[in-house]
Amino acid sequence: MTRRRLKVIGIGAGNPEYITIQAVKALQQVTTFFIPLKGDDKADLHLLRREICERYIDHDRYRMVDFDIPDRARDGAYRSDVSDWRAAVRAIYLRLLTEELGETDLGAFLVWGDPSLYDGTIGIIEDLRAAGMEIEYEVIPGISSVSALAARHRVALNRIGQPFTVMSARQLEKGLPEEGNVVVMLDTRDAYRDLDADLDIHWGAYVGTEDEILRAGRLSDLQDEITDLRKKARAEKGWIMDSYLLSRRSDPKD
Ligand SMILES: C[S@@+](CC[C@H](N)C(=O)[O-])C[C@H]1O[C@@H](n2cnc3c(N)ncnc32)[C@H](O)[C@@H]1O
Repeated sequence: MTRRRLKVIGIGAGNPEYITIQAVKALQQVTTFFIPLKGDDKADLHLLRREICERYIDHDRYRMVDFDIPDRARDGAYRSDVSDWRAAVRAIYLRLLTEELGETDLGAFLVWGDPSLYDGTIGIIEDLRAAGMEIEYEVIPGISSVSALAARHRVALNRIGQPFTVMSARQLEKGLPEEGNVVVMLDTRDAYRDLDADLDIHWGAYVGTEDEILRAGRLSDLQDEITDLRKKARAEKGWIMDSYLLSRRSDPKD
């Protein structure tokens, strides 16, 4: 059986300088990059991945294989939509690894931010391994959007002695966790509005990029402005990627 070799490389969440030295070393060894085209942001993020390769690889012994990632259906139950979508992406990965990667090649997926955070690449590779495909792979961590957001706002994510939670906007709609700060990602619904607590927000869109927008302050003072900014940015660029840290104003500051 052909053994496939792969690297899953975290490229950081927006700034080409978020690339780590470990990632640069890995990039230099790769022969075949699999570059996803996905969603409204595809042209911009595709370009960034290519820019990273051109900037950090000092030879031309590699090739790029573009592939389309289908949009996830949003008309059925959330879990079944996600599992159908994942099966479709798994079939694409299977084809790529079978047809585009030889025994002597080293393939790579360049993952936005960090591969361990809201990203399906590791899960899909594990599914393929479980189905019998022989894949040897390494994961290179990247600077996640959570770290980038905290750094750009110069804040700590947790208060001393408290946990913090990272969650999707879908989960936030069910309510805030009882304790600790919250980082919210994947917000397509302005889920920060009308939460029943007195909160501070540290919000960032396109963090680390030239288009970065940051706002911080009391949520009730800022929520209309943020909703407005999100709408305008989405209209101008065609897509938005933003996240935010929420903290209770009543919690003791460190
Ligand atoms: C599918 S998740 C991928 C997260 C990624 N693996 C990471 O480590 O940040 C995409 C979400 O991450 C957040 N995100 C990613 N990049 C961002 C950036 N540059 N600025 C703000 N939020 C970002 C947004 O909440 C977006 O909806």
